[in-house]
Amino acid sequence: MAQTLLSIGGSGFVSGTLARRAVEAGWDVTVVSRGQRPLPEGVRGITADRKDQTQFAAALSTCGSFDLVVDCIGYDPEDAVQDVEQFRNQTKRFVFVSTDFVFDPAHRQFPQAEESQHYLTQAYGGKKRQCEQVLLDSDCGQMEWTVVRPCHIYGPGSLLGCLPAHGRDKDLIERMRRGDTLQLVGGGHFLQQPILAADLADLMLSLVDCPRAEGQIFQAAGPDIVESRTFYAIIADLLGVELQIEELSVDAYLQDNPASAPFLCHRIYDLSRLRSVGAAVPSTPLVEGLRSHAEAVLANRN
Ligand SMILES: NC(=O)c1ccc[n+]([C@@H]2O[C@H](COP(=O)([O-])OP(=O)(O)OC[C@H]3O[C@@H](n4cnc5c(N)ncnc54)[C@H](OP(=O)(O)O)[C@@H]3O)[C@@H](O)[C@H]2O)c1
Repeated sequence: MAQTLLSIGGSGFVSGTLARRAVEAGWDVTVVSRGQRPLPEGVRGITADRKDQTQFAAALSTCGSFDLVVDCIGYDPEDAVQDVEQFRNQTKRFVFVSTDFVFDPAHRQFPQAEESQHYLTQAYGGKKRQCEQVLLDSDCGQMEWTVVRPCHIYGPGSLLGCLPAHGRDKDLIERMRRGDTLQLVGGGHFLQQPILAADLADLMLSLVDCPRAEGQIFQAAGPDIVESRTFYAIIADLLGVELQIEELSVDAYLQDNPASAPFLCHRIYDLSRLRSVGAAVPSTPLVEGLRSHAEAVLANRN
């Protein structure tokens, strides 16, 4: 019998990729969304707003149990509390999508281990850390949980670009084809380890059968550590154009854009913990993943 997946979110970038990969791999897939965007083919949709606790619980009450539940769109500690309350008796395996922005960028290590003495306490990254803490502190009953912390996620379904001032830039390809000079903070020298969304999806699906991942938090990153500017250089190569970069001062950019601080540091990880538990470790080379991403962006334009 097919394994059953419930994804909270299912028509977005990460959640849509997860749903599609699961369908392709033969899973029986159900997704929760508010019904504002089309769902991937082959999934069963439940329409509910997760922020409406009563509606969410009622919509899921008749669904039976799932082999794996993934919360792709938990951003607030209340979301993680809701996950524990709803799913502790409805699934054996639960995965929460966090972020590598949980770390205080001023106190990073290279590579950054899963544990740190310096987490953010506010804004997006701080709230994701609070979600992780809910799982760490709760009685989850039969529900075995795992947290994944992706770094920059790229791939078909999203826009291209991994660093300000050209992070997820919808006009990136046009700019590069025109020969525009790209403005990258710090000249694009910050190190990154981008993860292809499909690899992240496969990693999460592999956790259904990975008992040693229970109660653990993992960095989720790709196989290649590169300077951010290399990300753009690969795209330039694919387009057959020359890459021109102008360096924006880190300090000046931070002064004007303090919320961008988590982008402006080296973001590199040691994946040995992930490897040691037998999960599907992301392996698509950045060049290959970016080729598929650029092709998808170009195909959407035609
Ligand atoms: N992108 C990155 O580089 C990166 C890095 C690290 C971590 N992450 C994490 O990756 C996740 C992003 O997921 P995504 O790409 O699927 O997000 P997304 O593209 O914003 O899509 C959100 C999905 O959730 C549904 N949704 C939104 N609000 C909802 C609600 N209140 N109730 C029910 N459904 C709702 C949306 O459908 P409707 O609009 O129809 O409801 C859609 O299916 C986040 O957890 C983010 O923190 C991203």
